[in-house]
Amino acid sequence: MYALILVYVYFQGKLTVVPIHHNQELLEDCVLLINSEWPRSFSARMWSLQASKDTLPTSLVLIEKDEPQNAKPTVLAHAKLSVIPSDQEAVFIESVVVDSRRRGQGLGRLLMMASEQHCFGVLKLKTIYLSTIDKQAFYSKLGYQLCNAISIFGTRTAPNNSTKKIWMKKTMEIWLQNNENHSRIDN
Ligand SMILES: CC(C)(COP(=O)(O)OP(=O)(O)OC[C@H]1O[C@@H](n2cnc3c(N)ncnc32)[C@H](O)[C@@H]1OP(=O)(O)O)[C@@H](O)C(=O)NCCC(=O)NCCS
Repeated sequence: MYALILVYVYFQGKLTVVPIHHNQELLEDCVLLINSEWPRSFSARMWSLQASKDTLPTSLVLIEKDEPQNAKPTVLAHAKLSVIPSDQEAVFIESVVVDSRRRGQGLGRLLMMASEQHCFGVLKLKTIYLSTIDKQAFYSKLGYQLCNAISIFGTRTAPNNSTKKIWMKKTMEIWLQNNENHSRIDN
């Protein structure tokens, strides 16, 4: 397997999205961030983050590098990219969270953009799925569309009718179209 070097740099290098498994020193801070939103056992979270690898599952973190350059970066946001056993060409994005003190500053968008770049651009997957209870408006702004619930466990392809969540997806075609439109505007 190729060695993945996944680093997306934004805002003059201060903000970067990196995989957690290449930045083990940030594991604890990442657990604290996720648990600040969805409290769960520290060990269970740590175990989940330690499963991150270059292929799926991958936990991505948005970090801010403060001065001095060798200071430990601050973990500002997290997203986990998970396998969907019934669809090897798709990915399920979950546990998307931005530090509550830094919401509304475009960080959630940045993290999702980096996640999409990784899923579509690097892993060449065809579809990103996610589910949400109350953040439909956020994901709609990023181009996600409503879809039927899917089964994210096991290999059965039957739709998942048991969930109360809203399901959304983005395809590689839509992602490519949006990128094309943006580059036209930029030029
Ligand atoms: C949802 C969440 C990740 C958004 O992150 P964020 O950094 O605040 O979002 P951004 O600032 O990047 O917002 C991007 C766009 O979405 C919009 N948006 C963000 N949250 C929104 C909300 N709750 N309702 C409506 N629009 C929203 C913003 O206004 C912005 O629109 P604009 O580009 O037109 O200005 C963050 O609020 C969060 O961590 N919430 C708690 C955890 C959670 O619920 N996660 C989602 C699980 S499904």
